[in-house]
Amino acid sequence: MNFDLKTLDLAAAASEKCDLLIVLLPDGFKPGKDALSALAAHALKNGDLTTKAGKHLQMYQVPAVAARRVVLLGQGDGSARATRQALQAVGAALKAPQTKRAVLCFAAASVQAAVASAAVQAVAEATYVYTATKTKAEARSLTRCIVGVPDAPEVRADFDAGVALVAGVEFAREWGNRPANHATPSLLAAAAKTLGKLPRIQCKVHGPAEVARLGMGAFLAVARGSEEPLRFIELRYNGAPKDKAPVVLVGKGITFDTGGISIKPAPEMDEMKFDMCGAASVLGTFRALGELQPAINVVGLIPACENMPDGRSVKPGDVVTSMSGQTIEILNTDAEGRLVLCDALTYAARFKPAAVVDIATLTGACVIALGGVRSGLFANNDDLAAALQQAGESAQDPCWRMPLDDDYADGLKSNFADMGNVAGRAGGSITAAKFLQKYVGDMPWAHLDIAGTAWKGGAAKGATGRPVGLLVNYLLDQAKVSPAIKPAVSKRSPRAKTA
Ligand code: BES
Ligand code: MN
Ligand code: ZN
Repeated sequence: MNFDLKTLDLAAAASEKCDLLIVLLPDGFKPGKDALSALAAHALKNGDLTTKAGKHLQMYQVPAVAARRVVLLGQGDGSARATRQALQAVGAALKAPQTKRAVLCFAAASVQAAVASAAVQAVAEATYVYTATKTKAEARSLTRCIVGVPDAPEVRADFDAGVALVAGVEFAREWGNRPANHATPSLLAAAAKTLGKLPRIQCKVHGPAEVARLGMGAFLAVARGSEEPLRFIELRYNGAPKDKAPVVLVGKGITFDTGGISIKPAPEMDEMKFDMCGAASVLGTFRALGELQPAINVVGLIPACENMPDGRSVKPGDVVTSMSGQTIEILNTDAEGRLVLCDALTYAARFKPAAVVDIATLTGACVIALGGVRSGLFANNDDLAAALQQAGESAQDPCWRMPLDDDYADGLKSNFADMGNVAGRAGGSITAAKFLQKYVGDMPWAHLDIAGTAWKGGAAKGATGRPVGLLVNYLLDQAKVSPAIKPAVSKRSPRAKTA
């Protein structure tokens, strides 16, 4: 799908030929002398429409309007949040098979830059369709979407960032949604390799032999029970001078989590194909970086494997040695995410990072604590926590900070190893974070538990692409305070095209 930005007032919007014209009307809308203004003013006056976000009125073949269908849409207070909410309400019209070309036109006198970006994301979100393993699925019908604002140059940068973010979010959704037999560790690594074709991005993939050489005993223990060989994916984005400390992103890449010998109950086990959504968010973030080319260095690390029960599987009570040298008594093989992450966190130290952020569908307990609205945020550094929290708010991809008191680590004590891999049921998302913290030393570190936010269950079952918005926003904020290097010219950045 192509997004275009244009300077358009309502008079000009009326002559845009398209299948669907959406006119966004904010609170206090001031009608002009054009036909669409008159129509909106009339509907508002008669009470057939209000400017409350999401309220709308659809019309067909309106005289003096080139669009076949027109939707007058309340935009509330005109904020990014209200705009997204409004566009969600007309998602069905945007997704309809007969909607191939759409025009969004803002009736406000001025539009905040963040609103243009939010609109692009909302349209993409509403029209995404999963097709990879369906033979009769219709592809996304919307092929072109024009966003009309009073002053295009003013919002251009944010609009472009929004388009890049859409490419990243859709990459993450796509890989999150693929069934585990279509998204094995090897296939995930192949997807990462395709990102290595983008400017300033490199990708290295390590196999089982190399991971064994590195001494990643915890990661190896999880992978043991599967026929699918593990992959350790290492991505680099170099947008700043070499001596600039990178941000390292670590994504949990369990391509299917049966629980292993501590096997999970059958209901909803299919949803454990989403247990690589942390990894998918790292891939999606790199996809967006490839587009945006910010002045920053980023490393992406993905430990990818399946967690399966088998004759070779690791067993409850087994003790393994992690890359850090610390030993772990694996009391529950279903607490596998922290096992693959701890070795990746140890590996992360070699980059002398400015910050390490791991992203993981780590605990059911986090879903109980925060539901599907906010991701869990844990951090050993207040500045990093504040920056991530802020990035989440402005991306409408919010998180909430959770505590890390040392007392929470008490339950991880083991009689047979340096630590157990589980504590009791109480505070399960926090004790998981305390386990990870044993592997980060004094690096500034944050952990995002996305178990509740990475996908939706029920009728709308599917990956959300979260927290790509939060991560990209955070990285762009970091780039603002870091010196630029010459733009890359060797590889051309492909134009943002989604699905
Ligand atoms: N991938 C799961 C966490 C999960 C469960 C995410 C349900 C979303 C929905 C993780 O590997 C896991 O199984 N965690 C266990 C930990 C427990 C054994 C300490 C859990 O949360 O039950
Ligand atoms: Mn598990
Ligand atoms: Zn898991």
